[in-house]
Amino acid sequence: MDTVPAVVQNEIHPYYQENDVIPFIQDLGIVVQGWYPLGGRGHTGELLGDSVISEIAGAHGVSSAQVILRWNLQKGVAVIPGSSNPDHIRENTELYHFSLTKDEIARIDALDRGEKHDWY
Ligand SMILES: NC(=O)c1ccc[n+]([C@@H]2O[C@H](COP(=O)([O-])OP(=O)(O)OC[C@H]3O[C@@H](n4cnc5c(N)ncnc54)[C@H](OP(=O)(O)O)[C@@H]3O)[C@@H](O)[C@H]2O)c1
Repeated sequence: MDTVPAVVQNEIHPYYQENDVIPFIQDLGIVVQGWYPLGGRGHTGELLGDSVISEIAGAHGVSSAQVILRWNLQKGVAVIPGSSNPDHIRENTELYHFSLTKDEIARIDALDRGEKHDWY
């Protein structure tokens, strides 16, 4: 391969994590960008209401969406949440005033169930 891609996009959220694939791509110097970070439209309710994520959100005084987005950032994964709600868009940018502990990341990692929500 002569030209290394700058970015690889894949579905990534707590129910579909790709934990083997992410470091493999990152080790090649390629940025991993997660689409459907909140599960994708029609699936956000269960993910944002997940008891583990909600509990971690409560501990930090942030929303479940912020926890999921921060979990991605701490894995070095860029996120592109979609929203048409100005309050959500603002909230989704406010991810740098808190950080998840190793234990909290491990608890979210344990939610993986290989549940892909779309195929592109
Ligand atoms: N490369 C690919 O193959 C591929 C495939 C699929 C998607 N994508 C891209 O990935 C991006 C995200 O996809 P998506 O928007 O379908 O899925 P998503 O980001 O997982 O979920 C979007 C849903 O989450 C809600 N939401 C956003 N922020 C929220 C918050 N803070 N609190 C509560 N709800 C929140 C939105 O509702 P509100 O509007 O009410 O906030 C919307 O219903 C898009 O740019 C899309 O084009 C790429």
